[in-house]
Amino acid sequence: MAKEIKTIGVLTSGGDAPGMNAAVRAIVRAGISKGYRMMGIQRGYNGLINGEVYEMNVRSVSEIIHRGGTILYTARCLEFKTKEGQAKGLARCKELGIDALVVIGGDGSFMGARALANQGIPCIGLPGTIDNDIACSEYTIGYDTAMNTAVEAIDKLRDTTQSHDRCSVVEVMGHHAGYIALNVGIATGAVAVLLPEIPFDFERDILERMRQTQVTGKKHFIIIVSEGVVGAQELANQIQAATGVDSRATVLGHIQRGGSPTVRDRVNASLMGYHAIDLLDKGIYNRVVAVSGEQLDPDHRRTGFGALEDDLVGEYGRVRRNAQPVHVFGRNGDFRNLQVQISAAEVRLQVQRVLAADGNRDAGDAADVHQHLVGVDVTRAHSLFVLRQ
Ligand code: ADP
Ligand code: F6P
Repeated sequence: MAKEIKTIGVLTSGGDAPGMNAAVRAIVRAGISKGYRMMGIQRGYNGLINGEVYEMNVRSVSEIIHRGGTILYTARCLEFKTKEGQAKGLARCKELGIDALVVIGGDGSFMGARALANQGIPCIGLPGTIDNDIACSEYTIGYDTAMNTAVEAIDKLRDTTQSHDRCSVVEVMGHHAGYIALNVGIATGAVAVLLPEIPFDFERDILERMRQTQVTGKKHFIIIVSEGVVGAQELANQIQAATGVDSRATVLGHIQRGGSPTVRDRVNASLMGYHAIDLLDKGIYNRVVAVSGEQLDPDHRRTGFGALEDDLVGEYGRVRRNAQPVHVFGRNGDFRNLQVQISAAEVRLQVQRVLAADGNRDAGDAADVHQHLVGVDVTRAHSLFVLRQ
């Protein structure tokens, strides 16, 4: 039987992401409209441990749908990774009468939610990170705004790059995932995109591509590098030394995390927030609200923003663009048994589509590439998998 819930806490955790405010707004208003008492927890698990908690009403979330950042603040809380820290969090929930929690954050934040769930606090996770690196969901809150911010900045860089016949090496964020870099690269018509999932060869992937376009008269170049692959300045220096093309490096950095959320982020965050409350209201918890195919499934079971049910593995399991991840928090409400299965054929198909859109590589490269793209999900999923109890 579902646990009786009267009071629901909400927190944002890990890196902030545009759209988190829209999610908080939807959660608070949906919760109040369904008769729950809503508590805002500040600075992630830090605030839970320290009691930085306040009751929220419908006006607490006024004028925030268009604002980046998070009105609840966010933090990284090392203490919450320990049993002692988690016990303090549980004690605080009991003290404040918080019966359930909605956690907006990335996979680290979900590990914290899992710890609380294992101690009997029903939790719902909302994917909130610009990196789009949550294995079960095709979309994470903030991803769209971050990409648009990066594209807008690179469009500006293009003007000056073109005027000087230069090469611009631009580093974008993404943590260990190349989604931002890949899509921004396509959207800005970059000559090359360096992803963490695909080892690159300087001669083949940079110099040869530049030469090919130089033959057709191109004199300026945009190269996108996902963070951690290679230093942007180092790469710019190498390119200048090897080609003689005047080169500059730009690290877009945290600008990608800020700003007013796009329509897509506002709408998805609002829908996901509403569904988090709806699921708790239905007695379904210890799940991540995931997006699949951008469809809203009215009974919360098949696809869309609904919870991922164990019994739907295989049948409706194609929730990730190139994978078959299904369990997020596992069965029996204890977040265990996370599983990710990859369909190589699906991955290959997806990669071929991406490469076709890119127009630079032929399908033959897909075979090399697909293993690496798979790595995006597998790597992240394994980090979850290893952490299971
Ligand atoms: P994100 O949620 O964006 O992936 P982090 O990985 O930094 O960001 O995690 C955010 C917070 O979630 C951490 O500071 C910590 O409080 C909590 N957290 C992360 N991993 C765990 C874990 N294994 N157990 C409990 N809490 C965790
Ligand atoms: O997860 C979001 C993200 O911005 C990553 O893209 C980046 O690697 C990281 O956070 C940066 O974290 P910090 O806020 O600690 O600089």
